[in-house]
Amino acid sequence: MSKKLLSVLLSTAMVAALLVGCGNSAAETETPATETEEAAPTETEAPAETEAPAESTGMKVGVSMPTKDLQRWNQDGANMQKELEAAGYEVDLQYAGNDESQQLAQIENMISGGANVLVIAAIEASSLGEALDMAKAANIPVIAYDRLLMNSDAVSYYATFDNYKVGVTQGQYIVDTLDLENAEGPFNLEITAGDPGDNNAPFFYNGAMDTLKPYIESGKLVVQSGQTAFEEVGTPKWATETAQSRAENILSTHYAKGSGNNVDVWLCSNDSTALGVTNALAANYDGEYPIITGQDCDIANTKNMIDGKQSMSVFKDTRTLASQVVKMVGQILNGEEVEVNDTETYDNGTGIIPSFLCEPVFADANNYKELLIDSGYYTEDQLQ
Ligand code: BGC
Repeated sequence: MSKKLLSVLLSTAMVAALLVGCGNSAAETETPATETEEAAPTETEAPAETEAPAESTGMKVGVSMPTKDLQRWNQDGANMQKELEAAGYEVDLQYAGNDESQQLAQIENMISGGANVLVIAAIEASSLGEALDMAKAANIPVIAYDRLLMNSDAVSYYATFDNYKVGVTQGQYIVDTLDLENAEGPFNLEITAGDPGDNNAPFFYNGAMDTLKPYIESGKLVVQSGQTAFEEVGTPKWATETAQSRAENILSTHYAKGSGNNVDVWLCSNDSTALGVTNALAANYDGEYPIITGQDCDIANTKNMIDGKQSMSVFKDTRTLASQVVKMVGQILNGEEVEVNDTETYDNGTGIIPSFLCEPVFADANNYKELLIDSGYYTEDQLQ
């Protein structure tokens, strides 16, 4: 850690309050060997037009992303890199190939490589303890990006979307589309949730299930598979293939071709799982096509929405989250008050982590153009 950074950090009471211990030994430890999926290009000089504060010069931000396999993390990483570099920071961006030990090693490398702040989207919420301890010992503030880092007191801030609201948006869409208040039903519902190792997954699930529960209890929604508990419907690593094979099992058991049984709605927590369910339906189902929910507005899923194969998604504009995090980085390093808008919801096991929650937005085939194309998120060509 540079002397300059140290003085910036130590000169502010607010940041100093975040720091525990003053040793820097971790930063001097051996660099562990890591497999890096993609080494990020780094800029050593801030672009001329930047409004970067003088303090950003020479400051390095380590950005650790879970995987390149899912579209959204590529966008998150690219946006963060672009914005951080425009603000004058050097960026060490790493993707961990959904491998927890690789992510650990990459973060340790960032620390020994002199990162002044770490921004981390964890593969598994509690798997980074060792690296986080190192960060804390080296007085490096940590921002949990999108996914909360659990059971570590090294986490300074959390920036994400309102995860519970994502689930409520999906559940409310189902309530409205089936007109559950007035329709007699019953309607058959199946549920595919997210990764039990991702702290966001229960928030999505609970938001949707709290909204649907009255209708499940009254019998308007019937889950033929009987699988409703989070533990039964989760999808490790959010893998499309895992969601697909579970959906295939459910379809062959309860809604087999020729049976005349329809699955009316399939609640999917995100787009990668929705894709698995869509694939399973394509090969194993001849009933009426169900309502399918999702999240992220990935390209494949947006195409499916346009084609009527997925009903809705929740748009989380990764540009907004990246901008907020870049702002946080600047505020931390400049010793300013860090803007948060939630100090109640996210307890990581060591206490509440001050959070900034961005707004998720409902998306479907009717508004995708305005949301995704007019805003420059995708080009029309990408959705062809
Ligand atoms: C993110 C979702 C994403 C999922 C799978 C979650 O933590 O919040 O946007 O779909 O991970 O990558």
